[in-house]
Amino acid sequence: MFSSTTRSIPAPRSVPRHLAIIMDGNGRWAKQRLLPRVAGHKQGLEAVRRIVAASIERGIEYLTLFAFSSENWRRPPEEVGFLMNLFMAALEREVGKLHQNGVRLRVIGDLAAFEPRLIDLIRRGENLTAENKRLTLTIAANYGGRWDMMQAVNGLALAFPEKAGNYGEGDLEPFLAMSYAPEPDLFIRTGGEQRISNFLLWQLAYTELYFTDTFWPDFDAAALDAAIESYRKRERRFGRTSEQLLSATGTAVAPAPTSTNA
Ligand code: IPE
Ligand code: IPE
Ligand code: MG
Repeated sequence: MFSSTTRSIPAPRSVPRHLAIIMDGNGRWAKQRLLPRVAGHKQGLEAVRRIVAASIERGIEYLTLFAFSSENWRRPPEEVGFLMNLFMAALEREVGKLHQNGVRLRVIGDLAAFEPRLIDLIRRGENLTAENKRLTLTIAANYGGRWDMMQAVNGLALAFPEKAGNYGEGDLEPFLAMSYAPEPDLFIRTGGEQRISNFLLWQLAYTELYFTDTFWPDFDAAALDAAIESYRKRERRFGRTSEQLLSATGTAVAPAPTSTNA
């Protein structure tokens, strides 16, 4: 369990420890080339391979990719079907390679909506790679930030009914889908839109946000480096003043007042 950015301050790092990405713009990438939308999704998988490799090279510890939102079921059935098949094919082909490269795979989201064969592939991939330490790759599939918070609230209420009315942040966090990871340091959205689209609503509280017009299938290691470069220039204050940061260089800052849930 990692402590939350609203209650403790993570050590500054030049490379984000946890990078979360909304991989957007596949459809428009394809449209620009007069190709069907699904060609963009296929090409998007190549970008996933590139960014996983580049993340390992750069020492990123957690990479979280939004692959399918709880709202993406609203798309035409043919596109949804294609995405499900692509996900299954990717798991069949890539899990062995991920394992060889020391990647731990996790999938977050409401998996109950998926067909049994896909759920089985996910579980087997997670089990095979469970002990790997180099990079934790989380795929958010049928994920929604509000779904996550509600399943966590329900889990907490069932586990500790006697504490109802007195729950704190620290009580809820172990029930969130990504309780095994620190909160993202850097968020990237490709494809030009500047919105969160129901991604990690709780965990993005103090994440640095970076938006680029580059479509996801064109996103490469150089584009990733540009995002990290922007991240390096940010002053992460977590509520404090610039002056406090300067005077605190190398020394611990005064801790936040503790609450019963910290
Ligand atoms: C992101 O690309 C992939 C998924 C949501 C599955 P889009 O398919 O949203 O591409 P655009 O936004 O229509 O270009
Ligand atoms: C967000 O992209 C979800 C994923 C990338 C999986 P969308 O393309 O679905 O987001 P909206 O609908 O434009 O907000
Ligand atoms: Mg989109």
